Amino acid sequence: MISSFVALFLLSPFLVFQMLPMVSGNSEGDALNALKRNLKDPNSVLQNWNPLQANPCMWFGVTCNSDNSVIRLDLGGVNLLGELVPQLGQLPNLQYMELHNNSISGKIPDVLGNLTNLVSLDLYWNRLSGPIPDTLGNLRKLRFLRLNHNNLSGNIPMSLTNIASLQSIDLSDNQLTGDIPVNGSFALFTPSRPNLLKSCSLSLGGPSSPGSNVKSEGGPGSEKSQAPSPSSLAYFSASYVLSLLLPFFLAVFSAF
Ligand SMILES: *[C@@H]1O[C@H](CO)[C@@H](O)[C@H](O)[C@H]1NC(C)=O
Ligand SMILES: *[C@@H]1O[C@H](CO)[C@@H](O)[C@H](O)[C@H]1NC(C)=O
Ligand SMILES: *[C@@H]1O[C@H](CO)[C@@H](O)[C@H](O)[C@H]1NC(C)=O
Ligand SMILES: *[C@@H]1O[C@H](CO)[C@@H](O)[C@H](O)[C@H]1NC(C)=O
Repeated sequence: MISSFVALFLLSPFLVFQMLPMVSGNSEGDALNALKRNLKDPNSVLQNWNPLQANPCMWFGVTCNSDNSVIRLDLGGVNLLGELVPQLGQLPNLQYMELHNNSISGKIPDVLGNLTNLVSLDLYWNRLSGPIPDTLGNLRKLRFLRLNHNNLSGNIPMSLTNIASLQSIDLSDNQLTGDIPVNGSFALFTPSRPNLLKSCSLSLGGPSSPGSNVKSEGGPGSEKSQAPSPSSLAYFSASYVLSLLLPFFLAVFSAF
């Protein structure tokens, strides 16, 4: 009896210590730790990501606001390998997701569309594959969407035309197919607005012989327009079938 009482007494500080992070609701730290567990980190940059801390605000690459909620994730060019996790959707105040220039593979999780405070989503220079999620169209504060130099496939989601705040979008050097949207937010980037052209630079390149190495998405009977040579800005104003232009290069910048 006495010995078990003593044992419980000795254990209790540990129990309190273990439960503290849960009591204080470190859900954002838990989300980031789920990411850490899914990544290989040969440079040990995530070494100080300690799940027992009350919040992740002192962790490498993490910035919080005054309420200890994560607003930035700056892990560009630190040699991370592996896949993103759906728990990333549980960072409601995140504004900057900077994970560019790593070796991140797998899909872009649909739940990133829940991060409605995102201003910048930089996943360029990784090994991401699969589609660009439709849900990214929910990111109504997004100004920078740079997904270039991955292995993304499928169409450019029309939902992206709803992001009125977009200033810079770079989808170049992927395996995308289909039409480039020309309306909504994408209208800012087209030569049909000549007054904006001076502040825009746009590069659209492709293989020297378009039409070779064609991958088509449409089923039988679907119409395919003949793509012009991708050397001039003017072609961007027409919506044409990008599947004829593999690899697909689209880089659009406007300075506002
Ligand atoms: C990626 O990171 C490496 C090392 O951190 C750097 O040398 C390289 O220039 C970076 N590449 C790009 C495209 O940013
Ligand atoms: C997050 O996004 C997913 C899929 O995009 C959705 O099903 C889910 O309800 C969202 N969760 C929250 C908490 O908004
Ligand atoms: C790119 O993705 C396709 C599938 O969409 C896959 O077959 C191919 O191996 C991938 N390439 C690289 C370099 O990962
Ligand atoms: C752009 O056009 C597509 C149809 O081609 C439509 O689904 C989408 O809602 C339009 N976007 C805007 C912002 O009007």
